[in-house]
Amino acid sequence: MGVNLSTSIGKVQLKNPVLVASGTFGHAKEFERFMDLRRLGAIVTKTITVKPRLGNPPQRIVETPSGMLNAIGLQNPGVEGFITDKLPYLRKIGVPLFVSVMGYSTAEIAEVVGRLESEGGIDGYELNLSCPNVSYAAKVGSVSHARMFAHDPELVRQAVSACRAVTSRTLIAKLGPDVSDIGLIAEAAESAGADAIALINTFVAMVVDVERRVPVLANKTGGLSGPCVRPIAVRLTWEAKKRVRIPVIGIGGIRNAKDALEFLIVGACAVQVGTANFMNPAAPIEVLEGLEKHLKQRKIPALTDVIGSLKDRA
Ligand SMILES: Cc1cc2nc3c(=O)[nH]c(=O)nc-3n(C[C@H](O)[C@H](O)[C@H](O)COP(=O)(O)O)c2cc1C
Repeated sequence: MGVNLSTSIGKVQLKNPVLVASGTFGHAKEFERFMDLRRLGAIVTKTITVKPRLGNPPQRIVETPSGMLNAIGLQNPGVEGFITDKLPYLRKIGVPLFVSVMGYSTAEIAEVVGRLESEGGIDGYELNLSCPNVSYAAKVGSVSHARMFAHDPELVRQAVSACRAVTSRTLIAKLGPDVSDIGLIAEAAESAGADAIALINTFVAMVVDVERRVPVLANKTGGLSGPCVRPIAVRLTWEAKKRVRIPVIGIGGIRNAKDALEFLIVGACAVQVGTANFMNPAAPIEVLEGLEKHLKQRKIPALTDVIGSLKDRA
C-alpha cells in the first residue's frame, strides 16, 4: 500500500512534510554526499541579510545535555553573495526552496525579500524574526527597540506587512519560544498576511565555565536547541495552531519519525529537522522513511489523516 505524504505550505505543494531547518543544513551542497537532496520536502536556507556577516567571534558552539547552544551570529554572504554563489546550486536541486531572511529593521527585511523577488527558483521566504544571537533595532511608533521582532506582536505585524507588500510568494513567519503567549504573536503574523508560521527558533540560554568563571560562549549567551527543547516546542506548536488558521511548521529537537509525529499530531502541517543534522546528517531522510513506515504499518492512507489528530484523553 502506498501512502500519500503530501502537504502544503501557503501556495507551495510539498511531496512530503520533512524540511531542513535554517542554519543547520548550510546551503544544502554540504549535505549532497549524505543523501539524495531531491527526497526532501523542501529546503530552508541559512538566514540571509542585506550585507555579508562574519558572525560572532569564537567560541560559538557548546554542547549541553541533550542539546547545544550556538551563537553563530548569522554568518552569511549577504543577499548579493547568496544570489551569485549559493542560489544557482539550490535552484537546480528541484525541491521547493524557502530563503530565510532577516534584517535589523522592518525596511531591511523587506529589502532582502524585494531583492530576491527578481530571482527565479525561490518558492517563498521564511522570515527569521527570532534569532537570539544578534541585536535588532526595531521601531514602533517613535520608540526604538533593541529586541527580537518575535517578542512583540506589533513588530511582527510590521515586518510581515512590509514583506507582504513586496511579494506574493509564500511567506513564513519564524517565531521564537521566549514569549508568554505564542498565540498572540502567531495571530499578529496571520493578520499581517503570513501564509504560515514556523516555530520554534532557539531559546536564549547560557553556559558558564566554572573554572574560569566566564561564559563559555564569546557572545555570553546563545540559542539552545536539540532534543531538550522538543516537549516545549510541541506545546508551543499546539498552542499556536489553536489560534491561527494558517499552517504551522513544527521545529525543535526532531531526530526521528516519532519526534516528528508529535508535532504533526498536535497540528503541524510539516516539520523541520535542525540540530539532529549535526549528529546524523542523514536524519531528515530517516525521519521521512520512518513516517512512511508508520503510516503503512497502521494502514493510514494519507499524512493529512495524522495532522491535527490529537484526541482528548478519555
Ligand atoms: C548552529 C545553528 C545555527 C542556526 N542558524 C539559524 C539561522 O541562521 N536562522 C534561523 O532561523 N534559525 C537558525 N537556527 C535555529 C534552527 O533553525 C531551529 O529553529 C532550532 O535549532 C530548533 O530546532 P532543532 O532543535 O531541531 O535544532 C540555528 C540553529 C543551530 C543549532
